[in-house]
Amino acid sequence: MAEQSSLLIVNNFHAETIAKLDARYETHHLWRESADRKRELIARLDGRCVAAASASWDCDAIVYGLSSLRVLACFGVGVDGIDFARTRAAGIAVTNTPDVLNDAVADLAMALILATTRNIVNADRFVRAGKWLEGPFAFGAGLAGRTLGVLGFGRIGAAVVRRAEAFGLRFAYHNRRRKEDVPFPYFASPRELARHSDILLNVLPGGPETQGLVDLEVLEALGPEGVFINVGRGSSVDEAALAQALRRGLIAGAGLDVYAAEPRVPAELLAMDNVVLLPHIGSATVETRAAMGKLVIDNLAAWFNTGKLLTEVTGN
Ligand code: GLV
Repeated sequence: MAEQSSLLIVNNFHAETIAKLDARYETHHLWRESADRKRELIARLDGRCVAAASASWDCDAIVYGLSSLRVLACFGVGVDGIDFARTRAAGIAVTNTPDVLNDAVADLAMALILATTRNIVNADRFVRAGKWLEGPFAFGAGLAGRTLGVLGFGRIGAAVVRRAEAFGLRFAYHNRRRKEDVPFPYFASPRELARHSDILLNVLPGGPETQGLVDLEVLEALGPEGVFINVGRGSSVDEAALAQALRRGLIAGAGLDVYAAEPRVPAELLAMDNVVLLPHIGSATVETRAAMGKLVIDNLAAWFNTGKLLTEVTGN
């Protein structure tokens, strides 16, 4: 029975979900253990533990040493923390939590678009510093009639477009392949997309295929009035090039929720006032995190009760 099954919890991905899993399974909290005790725990569970739960963006590789592991239920949509070569080789099925976070991430993308184009963060600082008494704040840029280029058009990109339509934006996109069901102009490279965009929204996933794809050429193509927004993965951006582009005025500004080495943010970006920096909070609403947790729980329940999974992901 599911209630008696053992479940390895790899990291502290969401306290409320973990508490619910603790109530249903005999759980083992891997992240709480020292390196030696992790090895002991894996050895102890081997042969009798078939399931684990983890964040999708980060997973301790020691779990792949659990030879009885058959399902890894991940909290999050971007599965760049998972080593699919090893899960495939070991016959471990992987699940993630797609769709339930689209609205929250799209809301945050809009917040970053507005914060950068209207200079909201600096405007707040301006008022607090009493500078309004000395004169008006610098003008921002409007959205109507401008083009939002979506790099990595998927379900989150579509949710952003639904919102951005109301702001009068136009759209274009780049994916590895043109999508028949996307009615907007397609550009065959990130650079071409950037050249035709006023705001470049990066929703690319992480992993070797997208590593450093947004480079200096792409940012130069976006141009001195262009704005770069990232709600995808930090690894898909050459952050040194981004800092250079912001410093040299090759682009006007950036709004970032993700970074290559979270939670570390490049020092140069921290010192700049033409970039809005958020601590990876795209899906971080109470409701969305609860929905993501429910999907983790439901995937595990489906696996234990029927041998099937609700949202399996293969990583390619
Ligand atoms: C968060 O970034 C996620 O992948 O869900």
